[in-house]
Amino acid sequence: MKIIGTGRVHPSQVVTNDMLEKFLDTNDEWIKTRTGIAERRVISSERLEDLAAEASLKAIEDAGLTPADIDYIICSNVVNEYITPSLSCIIQGAIGARCACIDVNAACSGFIYALDMADDRLKSGKAKNILVVAAEEPTRMVDWSDRSLCVLFGDGAGAVVVTQGEGLLCSRLTTQSKVDCLHYVRTLEPTPYITKVENSAPMYMNGKEVFKTAVLSSSRDIKTLLSRAGLKPSDIKYYILHQANMRIIEAIANWLKLDMSYFPHNVDYCGNTSSASIPLLLDELAREGKLQKGDKILMSAFGAGFTTGACIIEWTK
Ligand code: ACO
Repeated sequence: MKIIGTGRVHPSQVVTNDMLEKFLDTNDEWIKTRTGIAERRVISSERLEDLAAEASLKAIEDAGLTPADIDYIICSNVVNEYITPSLSCIIQGAIGARCACIDVNAACSGFIYALDMADDRLKSGKAKNILVVAAEEPTRMVDWSDRSLCVLFGDGAGAVVVTQGEGLLCSRLTTQSKVDCLHYVRTLEPTPYITKVENSAPMYMNGKEVFKTAVLSSSRDIKTLLSRAGLKPSDIKYYILHQANMRIIEAIANWLKLDMSYFPHNVDYCGNTSSASIPLLLDELAREGKLQKGDKILMSAFGAGFTTGACIIEWTK
């Protein structure tokens, strides 16, 4: 596959660290030092499906196509207001496409999983132009009176259109079940037969454990892919890493002995936007003219599961 179009949409509400100080026992200095986040974009009046549809239309336009040309939609999403139908199905209707759709939930690694699935579908000849959209509202999973979690997240939607080509050099997906470490649980409707105890609870995260696992697993994925592609760290133009925490990004940069110019970031003004963080950043770089034909980009993400996904692509636009 190769990427032929990108698009993104951020919610309009900006929430600065100072604004959080008004209702939480926190401060700008703590948040910036521990996470690198200065502000985040948070859903208020918008609906996630509308952000996702707008980002998708931008990517389709950027690809020089129309929604009628899209023959498969994969949406990476963890939560939205609909349990069913899938978000991809709603996006399909909103943009006026007519094709099969599926959602994938691999938490923050979802965009890479979706790209990998798109590549398989293109290779099998079952599709020609695939829309891959990651739309996330993790701010709706956390307890906003819990200072350890709500300061971390932001919302948004990023999309790409992929078609047949030689742009994906290699990819790697892993899953290691670690449910206790990071989860968000909601009860379903009661029935007359349910006897087990069930509780809804906002997101729980063991931050230190996730931090350690994220640095180790992302470093391992990067090492594996560089070796598989026969590349050295400095052959990569940009490392587009999941934007969870600047300290995680800096730890990986140190480990690779590369300066921070290889590691563009948006976590400082978007927060952690889950699987949307990588396509949001990719679109920003593309629209700012920072990507040239032939550039090699390594994308690496980690998330609840614990899942990881990484790939090296060559920019072919
Ligand atoms: N403001 C002020 N103080 C705070 C805040 C806050 N917002 N949050 C926590 N604290 C306090 C704690 O209560 C604790 O106080 P105590 O020592 O009196 O008990 C102190 O700060 C230190 O808290 P820690 O949790 O030990 O802080 P740590 O340095 O581990 O940083 C953090 C926490 C930022 C969450 C870090 O562990 C981290 O980034 N982990 C990785 C998280 C991550 O990457 N998640 C995303 C992956 S999966 C996904 O994207 C869904």
